[in-house]
Amino acid sequence: MGLDRSFALDRRAERIDALAAKRKKVIAADQMIEGHYPVFAERAHGAHFWDVDGNKYLDFFLSYGTVVLGHADPDVDEAVVREIRRGFAVGLMKPVQSELIAELLEFVPGAEMGMLLKTGSDATGAAVRLSRAFTGRDRVVRWGYNGWHDWCAQWDHGIPAVSRALVDSFTYNDLDSLRTVFARHPGQIACLVMMPFMIERPAPGFLEGVRELTREHGTLLVFDEIRSGFRLALGGAQEYYGVTADLVTLSKAFANGYAISALTGRADVLRTLERVHISSTYYANADAMAAALATVRKLRGGDHLKRIWRMGERLQDGLRSLTAEFGAPVDVVGHPPMPFLDFRFGDGDADQRAKRSFYAATIREGVFLHPNHHWFIAAATTDDDIDRAVGAARRGFEALIADGLLPADRRPRKKEDGT
Ligand SMILES: Cc1ncc(COP(=O)(O)O)c(C=O)c1O
Repeated sequence: MGLDRSFALDRRAERIDALAAKRKKVIAADQMIEGHYPVFAERAHGAHFWDVDGNKYLDFFLSYGTVVLGHADPDVDEAVVREIRRGFAVGLMKPVQSELIAELLEFVPGAEMGMLLKTGSDATGAAVRLSRAFTGRDRVVRWGYNGWHDWCAQWDHGIPAVSRALVDSFTYNDLDSLRTVFARHPGQIACLVMMPFMIERPAPGFLEGVRELTREHGTLLVFDEIRSGFRLALGGAQEYYGVTADLVTLSKAFANGYAISALTGRADVLRTLERVHISSTYYANADAMAAALATVRKLRGGDHLKRIWRMGERLQDGLRSLTAEFGAPVDVVGHPPMPFLDFRFGDGDADQRAKRSFYAATIREGVFLHPNHHWFIAAATTDDDIDRAVGAARRGFEALIADGLLPADRRPRKKEDGT
């Protein structure tokens, strides 16, 4: 599997493209397995993509989870092309905007009103600003990945200390740690923004406890459902867990890859927008709205999410059999539509060595599994694809033995009849 063209393009990009240079220096080292993963893609279709060297991959990353139906879904793309041909950037609202919001209000729990934005960070940032205006409070509590704006960026560089000082976090599945934050800042916390889960699942009663505590303290609860919306269930984790937040942010699977996000929830909070500045030149553009409407209608009208669950369960079952067979210190974690492998080889270095060995083998098999970000399943993924992925994972566990990271006696024994 050659990657020459990918790497040549990467060397040029590194000199002229600041994001590419950053990716190479900061992200590549620990996110993908450098030297083994492709850098540039050429095209994508269904559950697969092709890199610039002509290699084909079975895709379980799906553009950070935005692609829910499959790459280049004909119904979604056709809806976009139709909108583009009709002139999608007028600056006035087009009817599809209201149509799409009306559609969301039908199935997103607690959605009395909604607004459409472009990115996930737009939506979470808008939720924070509206919450501050609505409550007259400055402080924010947050958990999980919520985007790149000042109040939630992962690194401190470039962010004024005063912004940081207004934001607290707490420990997932630990209500006492949240009680401590509320006790430290009584009557000052505008909102709690959190992903309902990331990889660890919520303990029974945890999300309900968060709901109760926020209510008790007059703090707005914002579920960041940018990953879980339209994927765990059509109505996201709110529907799945039966807990309703005051505001909900949505994006990613919303439009099968097109750039759009939404903020939905209580009408009294959303109406605060009348005195809060949140806007973009591009918010009225209708191309991604057409994509979202087509995606949502397709998800609502078919059994796509059921299928995604079934494929995810089959993948997780296959992986669990392999970890047992090889006796590997690897846990199969996450909800079936967003599965992941948790490596437990010891300290961070041991885990990284094991991941390098495992994922270098799976990518060689043409199966794109992200080493450090949970995976996603598309509705286009087939039973054969899942079999292939499990087969690639077997090669991954064999590589761990070959590289001396799992004892050779973990090699599964062939049965007497040689099967
Ligand atoms: C849960 C969650 N919130 C917010 C964001 C930020 O979205 P964006 O990268 O579109 O700004 C992401 C992106 O990965 C996310 O997964």
